[in-house]
Amino acid sequence: MASVGAVAVLVCGLVCVAVVAVSQSDCPRPCHCWKGTTQVYCNRLDLSSVPADLPTDAEVLDLRYNAITTVSRHDFAGLHSLRSVDLSLNQLKITGIQPGAFDDAASLRTLDLSQNKNFNVLPPNLPPQVTHLFFVSNKVVHITAKSLVNLTELVYINFSSNQVSIIDSDAFANQQKLEELHVESNNLTYIQPSALKPASALKTANFKNNHLTHVPLDLPVSLNNLDFTANQIRHLPSKVFSNLTDLQTLVLFQQPSLVTISDGAFLGLGKLQVLDLTSTGIDRITGSTFTGLGGVWKLFLSCTRVSSLPAGAFQETKNLTTLYLDGNLLTTLEPAVLDTRILPRLSNVVLSGNPWTCDCHLRWLKEHIDNNNTAPTVETPDIMTCEQPPSLKGRFWRTLTSDDFVC
Ligand SMILES: *[C@@H]1O[C@H](CO)[C@@H](O)[C@H](O)[C@H]1NC(C)=O
Ligand SMILES: *[C@@H]1O[C@H](CO)[C@@H](O)[C@H](O)[C@H]1NC(C)=O
Ligand SMILES: *[C@@H]1O[C@H](CO)[C@@H](O)[C@H](O)[C@H]1NC(C)=O
Ligand SMILES: *[C@@H]1O[C@H](CO)[C@@H](O)[C@H](O)[C@H]1NC(C)=O
Ligand SMILES: *[C@@H]1O[C@H](CO)[C@@H](O)[C@H](O)[C@H]1NC(C)=O
Ligand SMILES: *[C@@H]1O[C@H](CO)[C@@H](O)[C@H](O)[C@H]1NC(C)=O
Repeated sequence: MASVGAVAVLVCGLVCVAVVAVSQSDCPRPCHCWKGTTQVYCNRLDLSSVPADLPTDAEVLDLRYNAITTVSRHDFAGLHSLRSVDLSLNQLKITGIQPGAFDDAASLRTLDLSQNKNFNVLPPNLPPQVTHLFFVSNKVVHITAKSLVNLTELVYINFSSNQVSIIDSDAFANQQKLEELHVESNNLTYIQPSALKPASALKTANFKNNHLTHVPLDLPVSLNNLDFTANQIRHLPSKVFSNLTDLQTLVLFQQPSLVTISDGAFLGLGKLQVLDLTSTGIDRITGSTFTGLGGVWKLFLSCTRVSSLPAGAFQETKNLTTLYLDGNLLTTLEPAVLDTRILPRLSNVVLSGNPWTCDCHLRWLKEHIDNNNTAPTVETPDIMTCEQPPSLKGRFWRTLTSDDFVC
């Protein structure tokens, strides 16, 4: 449907005559186009193949929600400006991407192949020029050495909601540019120690909602963000993160299986800023649990099974600003735990949802809240209650005076 939209005739003296045909394309029916024909929307049209005569200046092509089974060499021929193709929610066959299908699309950066129900492996002939690959809600079980072998430009991969249970040790051998890996909601129980190591630029690894029982060894030292939310990690041995010297955020949220943290588990994480241990099964904190975390300013330690804290619990996290201790089994708290001579930046602490024993040992805290409640500020003191002694059971701290905190 390409048409000659304008013809410019340049006459240069008597000798040279150049005819420049500026090809201007139409939007292929029944698609819709925006910004001229640079954005082409052909979604939800029951298409069984890629529309013919796509405009040659197309940059963004949306083919979602169709019934396309195959893309062949001529489908994207001449589409040199194409940057982004969305083929999610189609019925691409495993062999549906024919060799060279994207060869003309040298500018292609983003390819979305999510929700194609036949994809139980990565299809061959993926375009090597893509930097962003979406492969969400397919049925891939095994990421093999071949899966990504030609995708050397990948910066971002999203494999969320597949059934990945195996990542071969050389699966990422050619992903030296990869910065973000999302393998959320898969079936991982174990990752080969060297599987991710070749991804030497990896900044974000998202393993949320898998079945990992151990922290994988030999993760890339480039990592900034590591997320193990909702796995089944049981134990953090000493120095398990020791190579991750650039890590800034570590999330172990929703891990009731995680009961023991060896002293020195976090050694080496000198740049860590945020540590999330919410809803873990941790029942014991020592003065060396957080050794190595001198940069952490936000520590989530909510909803664990911790019932007491030693005076030096946070002596190693000297930069701590915000501390969540709500929803634990704490009955009492020594003033030294929150001492601003040890924690000069501590500004906010959350202590609600603990079964406090409201006696003389907590009188200092009641006075702190009532007198000034700064450095640190105890957040939401209005919902703090007493569990003991029996005479004060269920009472809100706000309804008491410090004189009620007696032994
Ligand atoms: C990788 O590229 C080579 C050379 O073009 C090709 O023979 C091979 O089939 C490709 N592998 C995959 C998995 O696409
Ligand atoms: C992965 O892709 C899905 C679907 O496009 C998206 O909803 C999700 O936010 C992506 N995840 C990340 C972490 O980028
Ligand atoms: C993945 O895990 C789900 C839920 O645990 C299970 O139903 C499914 O069979 C698993 N798939 C594979 C391929 O292991
Ligand atoms: C740290 O890196 C060394 C050298 O690559 C490796 O042998 C060791 O297993 C790594 N440690 C962890 C805990 O990953
Ligand atoms: C502590 O925080 C301050 C202010 O954000 C920062 O300049 C300093 O580098 C941090 N210290 C460590 C050990 O990370
Ligand atoms: C309340 O706290 C602020 C900030 O720490 C301090 O400057 C002020 O002196 C305190 N006031 C009292 C009455 O303790």
